[in-house]
Amino acid sequence: MSEHSPGHRVRIGLLGCGTVGQAFIAMLHEHGPTIARASGHELEIGRVLVRSIETPRAGVRPEQLTTNPDDVFGDSELDLIVEVMGGIDPTADYLRRALASGIPVVSANKQLLSRQAPELLALAQDADTQVRFEASVCGAIPVIKVLRESLLAAEISAVTGIVNGTTNYILTEMSRTGMSYEDALATAQALGYAEADPSEDVGGADAAAKMAILASIAFHTNVRFDDVPYEGIDRLSAEDIELAGDLGYTIKLLGVAKLTDGGVSVRVHPALIPHEHRLAAVSGPDNAVLLESVAVRQIMLVGPGAGGTETASAVLADVLSILGTPNRGFLQNALTDAGRPLRDPDLTSSAFYVRLRVSDRPGVLAQIASVFAEAEISIGSVIQQGEGDAARLVLVTHETQERRMNTAISAIRDVTDVRGEPVVVRVLTKENA
Ligand SMILES: NC(=O)c1ccc[n+]([C@@H]2O[C@H](COP(=O)([O-])OP(=O)(O)OC[C@H]3O[C@@H](n4cnc5c(N)ncnc54)[C@H](OP(=O)(O)O)[C@@H]3O)[C@@H](O)[C@H]2O)c1
Repeated sequence: MSEHSPGHRVRIGLLGCGTVGQAFIAMLHEHGPTIARASGHELEIGRVLVRSIETPRAGVRPEQLTTNPDDVFGDSELDLIVEVMGGIDPTADYLRRALASGIPVVSANKQLLSRQAPELLALAQDADTQVRFEASVCGAIPVIKVLRESLLAAEISAVTGIVNGTTNYILTEMSRTGMSYEDALATAQALGYAEADPSEDVGGADAAAKMAILASIAFHTNVRFDDVPYEGIDRLSAEDIELAGDLGYTIKLLGVAKLTDGGVSVRVHPALIPHEHRLAAVSGPDNAVLLESVAVRQIMLVGPGAGGTETASAVLADVLSILGTPNRGFLQNALTDAGRPLRDPDLTSSAFYVRLRVSDRPGVLAQIASVFAEAEISIGSVIQQGEGDAARLVLVTHETQERRMNTAISAIRDVTDVRGEPVVVRVLTKENA
C-alpha cells in the first residue's frame, strides 16, 4: 500500500461495477469534497474489473474498464480493493491475491465471507492489512461496526435478526392484504425487491449466510454457512399468516443466534412473533437486528437491508475505517465547515392539535374558526363537547407554518369566550416525521 497522508490521494481498484459498484462511484463523485474534508483522504477509482467492457458505466472512463484482473492488481498506485462483484470463484482468488500483497480489501460479498472469512482474516493479519465487510450484512445498517467496535466488550448473548428484505417484504404484503405467497413474490419481483431467481432469499440461504457472519462476530467464534440450519418461507400460506394474526402473532423469517451454556447456536426459520414485540413492527423490505447482552440490555438497529446506494454507503464506511482518521480525526476535521444557514424555527411547518375551553354560547365556534381562517390555517377536524356552562373544543389543523399558528393562538387568547390557556401540541404527520 502506498503511503498516504491527510489529503493524499487513495487509489481504489474496483472489482465489479453493477448495482453497488455504480452507486459507490456516484457517491464518490457527489460527495468527494465532503469525504476529503472530513477524512483527509481523496478517494479515486483506478481500474474497474467487469465481465463486459462494452456496457458503459456512468462516471467511469472506457479506459478504466477491464476484463483482466492483472490490470487492477498491476496498477502501481493501487491502495485498496473494493470487491462488489459477488460469487465465490474467482472472487476468492482475487481477494487472496490483494491481501497476500498487503492491499486492504472491502467486500460486500456474504456468500464468500460466510464461507471463507477465517482464512481471509488470517491472510490479512499475516500481511499486516485488513479485510472489512460491513456491506455483506444488512446493507446500510452498521451492525458489524457496532458489534465489533462499539459493543466489543458487551458480551452479546443473543442476536435476533430480520436479515432478508425480500422475505420480509413478501410476509408483510401477505399479512397486510391477505394475498397468496405466489402473488406477494410476483409483486416483490415487479418492484425489484426479489430477483428473477428468488430461491436464495425465499429458501433462507441468504439469511443463513448473513447470520453466520453476524454470529461469528458477536460470539468471537468461527461460524460458517454450512453450520447454520435454515428453513425458508416458501411453504407458508396466506392461511398461516391469517391464523397467526388471529392468535396475536406476526410471522417473520428470523435469524436466531444465541450463546447458551457457553455454546453457540445459529438457525434461520420462520417464527411467530407477538404483535407487540419490537421485531413485529419491522415491515416491508427493511432489516433489523436485535442485540442482547447483560451489559447493554437490548439494542435494535433497523434500516434498509439492500439497494445500491444503501450498500455503497456501508462500503464507503469500511474504506474510511481502513484509512483511519489522521491527525485530528473525523469530527474535528469537518464538524461545522459546511456553514449552512440555520433555518428560522418560525418558518418550519407542522400540523397542530389545539384544545380550548370556551363558554358554551352560540357563535363561539364560528369566532374561533374565523381566527384560524384569518391566519390562513385550515382545520382538518373539530370535536366540541359540553362541560357544564363551558365547552371543550379540540381542533386538529392541516400542516401550517409555526408563525401562522403563533399568530392564531395570540388572537385566540384575546377572544373573550376562551377560558384559560390554549393547549397546543404538534402532530407528527408523514410530511414532518
Ligand atoms: N445489490 C444490493 O442491494 C446488495 C446488497 C448487499 C450486498 N450486495 C452484494 O454486493 C455484491 C454486488 O452486488 P450487485 O447487486 O452490485 O451485483 P451486480 O449488479 O450483478 O454487479 C456485479 C458486477 O460484478 C461484475 N462481475 C461479476 N462476475 C465477474 C467476473 N467473474 N469477472 C469480472 N467481473 C465480474 C459484473 O460485470 P458486468 O457488469 O460486466 O456483468 C458487474 O459489474 C454481491 O456480493 C452482493 O451480494 C448487494
